[in-house]
Amino acid sequence: MIESKLPRVGTTIFTRMSALATQCDALNLSQGFPDFDAPTALLEAMARHVMAGHNQYAPMPGVLALRDQLAAQVALYRGVTCDPETEITVVPGATEGIFCAVMACVHPGDEVLVFDPCYDSYEPAIELAGGRAVHLPLTEHSFAIDWERVASCITARTRLIIINSPHNPSGSTLSSEDLLQLRDLAETHNLLIISDEVYEHLVFDGQQHHSVLQVPGLRERSFALYSFGKTFSVTGWKTGYCIAPPALTAELRKVHQFVAFVAVTPIQHALADFMRDEPGYPATLGSFYQRKRDIFCEALADSRFAISPSAGTYFQLLDYCAITTESDTVLCERWTKDLGIASIPISVFYQSPPEQEYHLRFCFAKSDEVLLRAAEILCGI
Ligand SMILES: Cc1ncc(COP(=O)(O)O)c(C=O)c1O
Repeated sequence: MIESKLPRVGTTIFTRMSALATQCDALNLSQGFPDFDAPTALLEAMARHVMAGHNQYAPMPGVLALRDQLAAQVALYRGVTCDPETEITVVPGATEGIFCAVMACVHPGDEVLVFDPCYDSYEPAIELAGGRAVHLPLTEHSFAIDWERVASCITARTRLIIINSPHNPSGSTLSSEDLLQLRDLAETHNLLIISDEVYEHLVFDGQQHHSVLQVPGLRERSFALYSFGKTFSVTGWKTGYCIAPPALTAELRKVHQFVAFVAVTPIQHALADFMRDEPGYPATLGSFYQRKRDIFCEALADSRFAISPSAGTYFQLLDYCAITTESDTVLCERWTKDLGIASIPISVFYQSPPEQEYHLRFCFAKSDEVLLRAAEILCGI
């Protein structure tokens, strides 16, 4: 009846593990969402704008009041200016923004470099655009980019590089030196960049987030993607934004206007109000999530897992090689069913996982009580 355009794509691991967690009544540390609510003022603003009648289509690039707040936030947190009219587009989730950015710049036959373990939405978008994802592994243990290897994989067909920092699933971050290496390669080979920065405010231990927006030479050739869902604990609102120079933004909007056309109106007004009233809110997230990471890791100190504390995101990898050498996909399912704790296997984020890949990903955007209960189960293994 229909020839699949994505024959190798099934249901995402997040959907499968969350469904299994529900079915088994397990603690769900698999999918990346908080089990606590967003700030009350934001929820109230949402209700207010729905009741005030902000329920029809927003302008295609987003409600201007929100784009103004975003420009102010980028100036405050990253020290760079961007034009709300020509450089900021509000989208229904970073996933849609990434999809539109890929569609806007990948032509049939183009190669796109991605780094494994790789967030699962990139490759299907590349394939639908007629391109080919070229997978490069991050280094073992530290999950860093090997820039010499990147340089050796660039061909005349390479069009785009997709980076993600802070990185899901490993929790590693890119340094300013990494971005300079990227800039040199991108300039030499005239490449475009998609920079997935949805966890930009979730960085720990006194580190700063380094954005492509801050690097002259990269800024001009990059789509930077963000998610309100991650920053304001409203993943179900599926709202994000893209910042890119005017020429790239114009192409992204051409696609966006025929994929979704607009993001949800009252959500945009609510976010604009909240950002205007609480500009310092994102700055609180680093210490908030660092505390959660530390509660989880400290409660696991006597476990048999090897732990290297996450540098960013709300994910913690646990290395189980001292416990078993079973495959992570089998183990994940078994522990969800038998022990009542759900996580995510990271081998599924690789084209070809390393032979000895023994990591599971746990989301620590959970109440302290859930984190302690999870650690208790894991300590018993
Ligand atoms: C690395 C990464 N990029 C993009 C997204 C998608 O963000 P959104 O929910 O705004 O589409 C996620 C969500 O988990 C993510 O982890």
